[in-house]
Amino acid sequence: MKLLVTGGSGFVGSNFIRYQLATHPDVQIVNLDKLTYAGNPANLFDVENDSRYRFVKGDIADEAVVDAILSDGDFDAIINYAAESHVDRSILDPKAFLTTAVFGVHTLLEAVRKYQIPRFVQISTDEVFGAIMEGETDEFAAFEPRSPYSAAKAASDHLVASYWHTYQTPVVMTHAANMYGPYHYPEKLIPLFITNLMEGKKVPVYGDGMQIREWLHTEDHARAIDLVLRQGMLGQVYNIGTGERMPNIEITKLLLGLLEKDESSIEYVKDRPGHDRRYALNSQKIRRELGWEPQISFTNGLEQTVAWYKQHEDWWKPIKSGEFEKYYKQQYGL
Ligand code: NAD
Ligand code: TYD
Repeated sequence: MKLLVTGGSGFVGSNFIRYQLATHPDVQIVNLDKLTYAGNPANLFDVENDSRYRFVKGDIADEAVVDAILSDGDFDAIINYAAESHVDRSILDPKAFLTTAVFGVHTLLEAVRKYQIPRFVQISTDEVFGAIMEGETDEFAAFEPRSPYSAAKAASDHLVASYWHTYQTPVVMTHAANMYGPYHYPEKLIPLFITNLMEGKKVPVYGDGMQIREWLHTEDHARAIDLVLRQGMLGQVYNIGTGERMPNIEITKLLLGLLEKDESSIEYVKDRPGHDRRYALNSQKIRRELGWEPQISFTNGLEQTVAWYKQHEDWWKPIKSGEFEKYYKQQYGL
């Protein structure tokens, strides 16, 4: 199978690429990534010399770059991970979120039509459904995005669905819960808190810390996308969640325990504007129709993740100190 993975140098995409190369000997992957601040070649250092893998630096909104890759021939699918992904950054400066989500995804969809790519997989988030105060959202729930990030993702998803209905473009969409695991950029809750605690710093809990998220290990997500890619029905949407939901303060306390710190390391700070109180996905469909089940419990996954950050200070310290950007610009001549 020959795949174009976009945004493959970020957290979730790099874990997917590693999973594909490890589990499918016949797979060939081109990774198109703009290398924004979140895109990190070091996420894939271990596979960059694999002859089945090729990296192209570029923007999904750049038609010429996308053309140059796809005209090379015979791609079986595009899996689109490329997006600006951090809610707090979207509140400060939404423009890049919209450009990638709308013009970038539009460029990819047009390319799918032009080169008759058999499948386009759009990776999206439970955040498009907005805050769910009770119950769960299934695949038919209405979008009610409340941050510029989730509004941009919802815009992409609407565009993707419109291509299915209008042009019968062969698309499949997914909405995943909050992910965690190795190579997670240390601006998000779990990696920020782990690395802050390792550095002897405090952890900033927004508001009362009672906001609830559902947690999914990135390796379980890679397994789910593998199934959606190979067996998912075109035109369908699949939620990917675990049902493991908990307030941020509970995760904070688990991390304090794992890193042998006490509650004096907590700093309650001003809440995020428009902060969604709760997300909760109904993920019965992917279990029932594709036989997917998460394999990593949150307790084990969190422990493994803490261990990974302890063993990979060389990965996250340069990011936190700003050194990494200088390094890869030199290394890659960017
Ligand atoms: P990330 O920020 O770590 O990675 C995004 C990657 O996309 C980076 O490598 C970046 O350089 C690249 N990129 C951004 N704009 C681009 C553009 N215009 N052209 C090419 N590349 C571009 O984000 P992530 O956490 O890995 O998320 C990946 C995808 O998964 C996103 O679409 C996100 O919405 C979705 N998702 C993430 C989570 C989560 O918890 N992290 C949950 C559900 C869905
Ligand atoms: P985050 O990791 O940014 O993911 P998302 O906003 O996409 O869910 O945040 C997860 C939760 O943690 C969210 O409720 C905001 C909260 N949070 C904090 O309390 N402090 C922090 O420093 C960060 C980054 C997040």
